[in-house]
Amino acid sequence: MNGNVSVAVLGTGIMGSAMARNLLKAGMEVRVWNRTRSRAEPLAAEGARVADSPREAARGAGVLLTMLADAGAVAGAVGGGALEALSPGAVWLQMSTVGVEGTGRLQRMALERGVAYVDAPVLGTRQPAEAGELVVLASGPEEVRPACEPVFEAVGKKTLWVGPVGAGTRLKLVVNNWITGLLGVLGETFALAQKLGVDPSLFFEAVEGGPLDLPYARAKGKMMAEGEYPTSFSVRLARKDAGLVLEAAEDLRLPVCEAVAYHLDRAAETGHAEDDMAAIYEGVRTAAEPGGAG
Ligand SMILES: NC(=O)c1ccc[n+]([C@@H]2O[C@H](COP(=O)([O-])OP(=O)(O)OC[C@H]3O[C@@H](n4cnc5c(N)ncnc54)[C@H](OP(=O)(O)O)[C@@H]3O)[C@@H](O)[C@H]2O)c1
Repeated sequence: MNGNVSVAVLGTGIMGSAMARNLLKAGMEVRVWNRTRSRAEPLAAEGARVADSPREAARGAGVLLTMLADAGAVAGAVGGGALEALSPGAVWLQMSTVGVEGTGRLQRMALERGVAYVDAPVLGTRQPAEAGELVVLASGPEEVRPACEPVFEAVGKKTLWVGPVGAGTRLKLVVNNWITGLLGVLGETFALAQKLGVDPSLFFEAVEGGPLDLPYARAKGKMMAEGEYPTSFSVRLARKDAGLVLEAAEDLRLPVCEAVAYHLDRAAETGHAEDDMAAIYEGVRTAAEPGGAG
């Protein structure tokens, strides 16, 4: 049914590969490119064409979907001729988290090349991405929205159209501040429990069934309790996101977010950069140890 929609997906990391799979399941023609080609190759068995360059992936495609680490990675990927290679009237769905400044920079690249730009970061991590249940925070010109819908429906359970380009990114930063703030206080709470000799399972028993019993805290708390951090969202990218929040906030001081960034830096320094962001706990703990990073 969607066979006439051709989508070039740049970036097949945790999120991009899951999204590409769901586009294939929805019957779209999918081309994929990834800097480390071996990470894109498994998608060939599911019907994707693996390209050697972003430009090759984009050639003649009606939709360009970018899902890369940060604005620099996106600019580098699309800047080598990918935008020029798209079919006339194509739409660029920029779904990586790139912040306010990054969005402006990438939108300008699109404008200069006459490509419609949609700013559409997502909520949801590995499992919702695999299940096609992301929440898309979309913003961009009214006239291209219908062309985006089949893609958003394939990767998400809900799309919020929130205004002109930039509005999606601003909403994403607000939600991310909430998420990383929760993560930071959970890491500190676990570290405090350890310091005071309190079994963290008692903490969960105490809040069980009440408004403070968050599934998110349960999931991340389990990783902290077990000391195992299989990655849904890495410490490295969570730190990038905290930085994007602080940058966007400008002169509004956000000491909670600053503290989260601090703990994430410590976690990265202790070898957890590629682990799940729940490893923030290791950063908090290490800083408290004699001779530790704090
Ligand atoms: N995971 C989540 O829970 C989640 C949720 C919402 C939004 N996001 C956002 O989605 C985006 C992707 O996240 P992810 O979790 O899928 O990350 P990931 O698994 O670490 O993948 C990152 C991707 O970016 C590529 N990349 C990194 N630096 C690059 C560079 N300089 N040039 C070219 N490619 C580069 C990687 O290529 P290689 O394979 O070659 O390293 C890979 O394709 C990020 O903006 C993230 O903030 C993630």
